[in-house]
Amino acid sequence: MDINLTKKIYANISAIGGYVPENKRTNHDLELITDTSDEWIVKRTGIKERRILDEGLATSDMAVNAIKNLIETYNKDINDVDAIIVATSTPDMLMPSTANIICGKLGIENVWAFDINAACSGFLYALDMGASLVETNRYKNVLVVGADKISAYVNINDRSTNILFGDGAGVVWLEPTKEVGVIDALLLSNGTGKEFLNIEGGGSLYPPSQDSLEKEKTYIKQDGKVVFKNAINAMSHTCLDVLAKNHLSVSDINWLVPHQANKRIIDAVGKEINIEENKTLINIEHYGNTIAATIPLCIWENTSKLKKGDLLMLTAFGAGFSWGASLLRWTI
Ligand code: ACO
Repeated sequence: MDINLTKKIYANISAIGGYVPENKRTNHDLELITDTSDEWIVKRTGIKERRILDEGLATSDMAVNAIKNLIETYNKDINDVDAIIVATSTPDMLMPSTANIICGKLGIENVWAFDINAACSGFLYALDMGASLVETNRYKNVLVVGADKISAYVNINDRSTNILFGDGAGVVWLEPTKEVGVIDALLLSNGTGKEFLNIEGGGSLYPPSQDSLEKEKTYIKQDGKVVFKNAINAMSHTCLDVLAKNHLSVSDINWLVPHQANKRIIDAVGKEINIEENKTLINIEHYGNTIAATIPLCIWENTSKLKKGDLLMLTAFGAGFSWGASLLRWTI
């Protein structure tokens, strides 16, 4: 029997949505809490403010708002969705999955819904997973969400983290096409970064307990310098590798969309791969690092700049370490 292995179906992004909470935490707010300054934060990170979700609300609430924004903007029908993948490190609960909770909040059923945790690289992992589902032709409409309420794990008194992180959610709708949309991705993990960036408590190793609370294990902790260097190296190499794998060069890229962790990291990656400065999309100034949400939020905010057929390079780096780069044609 002849089997035609030529890939006939591709996944493309047919709609995008986003949501950030109303409540702003500015650098001036942080000046009142810890020994820091607006000048230091802007110079070292490029961040001016972040959005913080109210207590009593969770990651799924932001994801639902982002999905509603997508549906309203692009006139989509939620009942057409076959699968929902949520990239998050801050699920509403350990179980059920946040994707499952979202189904309940949107009133949908008969969808395959699950979470992916790859920290700040999560959206790229989920995008590739979603595109792979579409390419099988068994799932036609797949929602890929990146959402995190990281403020729930930030020690407001720790100036090494409270300046960096904010809450948000972004989502894309994938569907089949004959012309290539999502082209390729290179997604990697090495497990050597656990001690440099983590939230230790709350899992099976350090379950919630008086002891883990007292030892402050439920807060995000990092060695900023180690993360900084590894991020630049990993993102720039992976960008170049995925381009080479697809016989493309940096000059073919219309837009670089890097994970928004620190403006200096973004600038250094751009310099390493030698891309023109005005081709990099940046919104870190207003939102800080929203973990899995940074990339979809950044694309969502900049959709007016994108033209159909533009080549986008997405790249991220996060805890684990985990990192990667994805290539896609803009098809909206
Ligand atoms: N305000 C004022 N001064 C500060 C602050 C602050 N918030 N933080 C540190 N300083 C001081 C230090 O004490 C130090 O002072 P000294 O020179 O007198 O000793 C000086 O500023 C420099 O401190 P560094 O730690 O060297 O500052 P650096 O330039 O490395 O910036 C930062 C720190 C912003 C955390 C940076 O290392 C960084 O962004 N790292 C990457 C973080 C990151 O991306 N994390 C997320 C990854 S993705 C994920 O999966 C979550």
